[in-house]
Amino acid sequence: MRVPLLDLTRQHERVREAVASRVQAVFESQQFILGQAVADFEKAFCDFTGCAHAVGMSSGTDAELAIFMAMGLGPGDAVVTTPYTFFSTAGCIHRVGAEPVFVDIDADTLLMDAEKLRRYLAEQCRRGADGSLLSARGNRIRAVIPVHLFGACCAMDALGEVASAFGLPIIEDASQAIGSEYAGKSGRVAQAGTFGDFGFFSFFPTKNLGAAGDAGMAVCRDGKSAETLRQVRNHGMTRQYLHESVGGNFRLDAIQAAVLQAKLPLVAEWNAGRRRNADFYRAELGGLSDYVQLPTEPWKADGVENHHIYHQYVIRADRRDDLLRHLAAAEIGHAVYYPVPLHLQECFAYLGHQTGDFPEAERAAKETLALPIYPELKEDEAAAVTAAIKAFYRA
Ligand SMILES: Cc1ncc(COP(=O)(O)O)c(C=O)c1O
Repeated sequence: MRVPLLDLTRQHERVREAVASRVQAVFESQQFILGQAVADFEKAFCDFTGCAHAVGMSSGTDAELAIFMAMGLGPGDAVVTTPYTFFSTAGCIHRVGAEPVFVDIDADTLLMDAEKLRRYLAEQCRRGADGSLLSARGNRIRAVIPVHLFGACCAMDALGEVASAFGLPIIEDASQAIGSEYAGKSGRVAQAGTFGDFGFFSFFPTKNLGAAGDAGMAVCRDGKSAETLRQVRNHGMTRQYLHESVGGNFRLDAIQAAVLQAKLPLVAEWNAGRRRNADFYRAELGGLSDYVQLPTEPWKADGVENHHIYHQYVIRADRRDDLLRHLAAAEIGHAVYYPVPLHLQECFAYLGHQTGDFPEAERAAKETLALPIYPELKEDEAAAVTAAIKAFYRA
C-alpha cells in the first residue's frame, strides 16, 4: 500500500469552506497588507498559545531575523543554538553578521542539552573587559536559541536556569511546536513560545498549522519589544515614511492570516490526532526495542496533555539506510530530518568544526528517520507502516 509521508489534500477537504470564506472576505476588503485580518490572527494566536504579544511575519525565518534586528544583533555578537535543527535557525545568526555557536543535543530527546550548554558557557567562554561573556572566537554571547524540534518542548526549566545564571535571554525556536506544552517546576503548564524573552513560529504549509505559502510569527513578553518588532517588519517605519531604524519587509500577508485564522480552531484536534497515531506506533513497534528507539515523551509523566504535538514522528533505527531503502521499495513515505548537522555544513566551514565535535547531533543525523504522522493518516495506512518496519527487522 502506498502511504504518503504527508497528504495535505485531506486536510484541505476539511477546511475548504472556512478558508474560502475568510479569503473571500479579504478580497472584498481589498486590504492585502496588514490590516484587520492580520491583527485578528495575531490576537487569536495569543489567545491560543498564551503568548503575551504576537507579530505576524512573512516566514519563520523572517520572524527570527526580525527578532535579531530588534535586539540589535550584529558583527561582534554570537548566539548559541543546536547543530541539529533546520538550517535557518543558525542561518539567520550568520545573516546578521553574528557567530553561530553550537552545543550538542541530548541523546534521548534530541533537544538542546542544558548541562552541555552550562559547560560550554562556564568552560569555553571568558569574560571580556566590560564583563560581557565572550565566545572562543571573541564574540559577545547575546542569546540562546533552544529548538522545540519535532514538537516536544525543550527542558525549559533547566535551560532557563543556565541562561539566567549567565544573564542571557532565551529565544525559543517554536517553528515546529505550536500548541506543545511543558510543565515547569512551578507546576504551571504553558505552551511553547511563552517561556523565552522572544520566540518564533513557522507556518510553512507542512507545519501543524500551515499557511497557503510562507508565513510566520514572532512573539515576545513585553510590549516595547513587540512595538519594535512591528517597526522592523515594516522597514523600520515609525510613522508614514519616517524611519528611525532600518527594518525589512517581513509582513505577514492578510490572505495568509485569513487562511491561518480559519485553520487555528482545528490545531488542538489535529495535534491530538497526531498523538493518537504516535500511540499506535508505540503499541505496534514497542516490541522492536532491540532495533528501533521510539521518540521520547519527556513531559508525558508530568500529566501534560499536549506534551508532544508530533510535528514529526522521528525514530532512531538500526541499519537506518537499509530501512530507508526497504520503506522506499514498499512505497512507505519517510524522510530524514536532518542528514547533515549544521556544524558540518559547507557554508559554516569558516567556524572550523570537524566531525566528532557534536557526536550526538552527528549520530542523530545518521540514525534517525521520520514516519507519516499527520492526523488524517488512515488506520490501514499506519498499519502498513508498522508492518513494513516489522518485516524489515524480522526478515
Ligand atoms: C526548526 C525550524 N526553524 C526555523 C524554520 C523556518 O521557518 P520558515 O520555513 O517558515 O522560514 C523551520 C521551518 O521550516 C523550522 O522547522
